[in-house]
Amino acid sequence: MLRDTSVLMDEKRVFKPNYQLVEDAHVKNWEAELEKGKDLEKYWSEKAEQFEWFEKWDKVLDESNKPFYKWFVNGKINLAYNAVDRWISTDKRNQVAILYVNERGEEKKLTYYELYREVNKMANALKNLGIKKGDTVSTYLPMCPELLISLLACTKIGAIHSVVYSGLSVGAFVERMNDARAKVLITADGTYRRGKIIDLKKIADEAILQCPTIETIVVVNHTGQAIEISDLSGREIFYERLIEGESDECAPEKMDAEDPLFILYTSGSTGKPKGVLHTTGGYMVGVATTLRNVFDVHNGDLWWCTGDIGWITGHSYVIYGPLLLGTTTLVYEGAPDYPDPGIWWRIVEKYGVTKFYTAPTAIRHLMRFGNKYPNIYNLSSLKILGSVGEPINPEAWMWYYKNVGKEKTPIMDTWWQTETGMHMIAPLPVAPLKPGSATRPLPGIDAEIIDENGNQVPLGKGGYLIIKKPWPAMFRTLYEDEERFLDVYWKSLPGGVYRAGDVARKDEDGYLWIQGRSDDVLKIAGHRVGTSEVESAFVAHSAVAEAAVIGKSDPIKGQVIKAFLILKEGYKMNTALIEDLKKHVRYELGPVAVLGEIEQVEKLPKTRSGKIMRRILRAQEEGDDLGDTSTLEE
Ligand code: WT7
Repeated sequence: MLRDTSVLMDEKRVFKPNYQLVEDAHVKNWEAELEKGKDLEKYWSEKAEQFEWFEKWDKVLDESNKPFYKWFVNGKINLAYNAVDRWISTDKRNQVAILYVNERGEEKKLTYYELYREVNKMANALKNLGIKKGDTVSTYLPMCPELLISLLACTKIGAIHSVVYSGLSVGAFVERMNDARAKVLITADGTYRRGKIIDLKKIADEAILQCPTIETIVVVNHTGQAIEISDLSGREIFYERLIEGESDECAPEKMDAEDPLFILYTSGSTGKPKGVLHTTGGYMVGVATTLRNVFDVHNGDLWWCTGDIGWITGHSYVIYGPLLLGTTTLVYEGAPDYPDPGIWWRIVEKYGVTKFYTAPTAIRHLMRFGNKYPNIYNLSSLKILGSVGEPINPEAWMWYYKNVGKEKTPIMDTWWQTETGMHMIAPLPVAPLKPGSATRPLPGIDAEIIDENGNQVPLGKGGYLIIKKPWPAMFRTLYEDEERFLDVYWKSLPGGVYRAGDVARKDEDGYLWIQGRSDDVLKIAGHRVGTSEVESAFVAHSAVAEAAVIGKSDPIKGQVIKAFLILKEGYKMNTALIEDLKKHVRYELGPVAVLGEIEQVEKLPKTRSGKIMRRILRAQEEGDDLGDTSTLEE
């Protein structure tokens, strides 16, 4: 069922490119680059040539077993080698690779050479723990240098990494750890958040009791909380101790282009989270190419993506993309408004950030404090801004453009997903921009909008966003759930095309306007939260018999959760119970699941087969027409 999206796309303003940027840009002609992208194999093989392969591929793209596409068939490569080792024999050797900054104003810099040595030590240490190519290593870490080092160490030896976002809580942690059958967990004593230290180790300790596959737990002494060696169990070891005495040389594992690189979990509309599996060669080429072109990365840039490494944004554009391009990546551990809402701009000024990439929810949050903060600081180093995670409303776009970019830096609104691995719909610096539109599919990407019968919809009309041709950084499957991979993405619409799960419209200039999800997935502060996950968390509470949740629009978070609950006999809804329910859901899922209201109901709208019709709840809540109710039981 398609939602009516006709209210959007009233935005008519067009912003011309900044000519100075265009002069130096890698891509100077948008149309010509789009044209080049039409020859998929030629386009992507040229991009792939820029890396060091141990053995070159035989074939760029193998489409013989759709949708199990293969890229750079039989090519042999190592991503960590290309992201780190490759630079130490160049003049980037002593350039800062990672600039870590935290909310206390502390900083740590690692040059490419230093990073190289640290990665090698950790890679050797992991080997000593018995980790081999194909084994899974999980992390539950804050944004800290050890997280980047650990992931690169995995990549270097061919281990698959599976990052659990440090804002997730026990329930979500256990589910992800067990699904991936992680052998090693790397965690930390804590993380800084708004002047407090969140005790990550305590959450990990609790979760680990339910994770039988974990053999070793590595603990980063990050905040220096008093954890003594004697506090550690027999299978726990401090990171520092683990790498002590390890050699700083480690030969890269020769990986097949199609060998798994990482698993990253994301929410779907039903059941447990989906283990999105990415592989090596194509991901590398896709991520580096898009970052280079969309944000026009050059020598001398200081790149800052505020996304957490716990999400795909951080994987692709905090670690891999920037290091593959040999640029400096700023890693910030902290919130946008602590110690005050000027902190991000203070960092931009202090270090001279040139390219800045964040989420609409953060912009909307900072907007509330007015233009005072961005005006205190000198933001003239900024050349390009970016947005990701959800549609950016024109009001937020304009605020960002005027107050942060001072009307001279374009905003790259990038549409993509955990599954796509890389930007898919986004402008280039040469593109005219329209606030609220991610503009057109990138070169090499073939996106379209269709109806449920597979027909292209007329301009201006809403439909399902699909991708018609394969792209290198595409996910290859859902970890150990091929059926779901096929059903959700490849079979639910006709034509064997990739179904993104979003609704969108196209305007007369071919610009795409993303309207939101077409499934039961919420976008809370840019994070994907499945309604069913939240519902099962509610039902796990002793007072709840049945639960249905929907997204309610929220001016800052985009959406928050509204829950409709049927209570078990003997329970009454009151403030104490509401508090307890909130605590419970937070314990299960973490602060990502932002709860708005909780309402007690006697009945839930269901189909005859018993499926909850959230659409009806949504319509009722928003005072809309209930639509087709023929499948409603009563
Ligand atoms: C969903 C993917 C991609 C990294 C962060 C989110 C929404 C993402 C945009 C954008 C409109 C966007 C879509 C998409 N989305 N970027 N620029 N404009 N919507 O990754 O958690 O996998 O979520 O985020 O709904 O399907 P994710």
